[in-house]
Amino acid sequence: MKKDVLETLKYNKGSFISGEELSNRLGVTRTAIWKHINQLKGEGYEIESVSRKGYRLVGEPDVLNQHALQMELQTKVIGKRIVHYDTIDSTNNMAKRIAGEGGDEGVVVISEEQTGGRGRLGRQWMSPKGTGIWMSLILRPSIAPAEAAKITQIAAAAVASAIRYVTGCEAGIKWPNDIILQKKKVCGILTEMGAELNSVNYIVVGIGINANVDVALFPEDIKKIATSIKACVGNSISRKELVLQILKEFEALYLDFIHTKSIGKSVDICRAHSVTLGNMVKIINRDQTIIAEAIDLTEEGELLIRNQEGLVEKVISGEVSVRGISDYV
Ligand code: BTN
Repeated sequence: MKKDVLETLKYNKGSFISGEELSNRLGVTRTAIWKHINQLKGEGYEIESVSRKGYRLVGEPDVLNQHALQMELQTKVIGKRIVHYDTIDSTNNMAKRIAGEGGDEGVVVISEEQTGGRGRLGRQWMSPKGTGIWMSLILRPSIAPAEAAKITQIAAAAVASAIRYVTGCEAGIKWPNDIILQKKKVCGILTEMGAELNSVNYIVVGIGINANVDVALFPEDIKKIATSIKACVGNSISRKELVLQILKEFEALYLDFIHTKSIGKSVDICRAHSVTLGNMVKIINRDQTIIAEAIDLTEEGELLIRNQEGLVEKVISGEVSVRGISDYV
């Protein structure tokens, strides 16, 4: 019922709605409405109450815990259980621990801060407190280990679509795992798994988004290649709204993959928003760098390049980094 009261206030978008109308619409007494309003206030919702006018929602808390998210979550599986920390070494580490102990598909681990956030290829991931989205999803698809990289493409498609939806900004995807705003990285995805030789036991997909991070805090070398949504939009965004939208978009694309065994829908999104395709790129693989034209993505989400001899080759995401010729993108 509290959820219904909140939804009605939200639907009214900042206008007043009387206690009587709320009680009629929701079929409960005005006293019950008043109790739910007080509970919502206690949870950080700013609700103005004016006699003879009623109630009006003026602000929402930007909290990422189970309670706050579950009230508005629109998914069936992903986020059924949300484990929220104030501080932790890495949400991927914790998600792997939970998965190793039998945690279900759909568990989401979120932390306000990470003290040992990890990126791809053994890099560190800066995760300051309260301003970013540092979260990891546990999945248990029946797939072969070689298919795990498909989950990165699903996540990239979901995050780019969600950022576009929530902020209106033109988020791009730098294959295989970066989300780009204004030519700089705003989000990275780290997909890890627990597997036998032929089958995946669990997959953990870690998503790090510099949502409201103050870019002035980035070290000089990072400032050149990274940004935050706040720096691009000019004001703080609701992390909660973005997390809810990502989980919704991710679930739709992931379930489509499970049912059809194809990541075609995600690949279409990755193609449409790609900042890699059509450009000359540097493919960096350990100590070898080649320059090639990025021409397309396969239906499996691998990158197709035309090398300098004119031959078309497939690049698999595992160990490579892709960079622009002179810039990050
Ligand atoms: C990359 O671009 O190299 C991937 C960065 C992934 C960072 C996220 S933050 C949440 C999750 N926990 C981690 O330790 N890493 C991922």
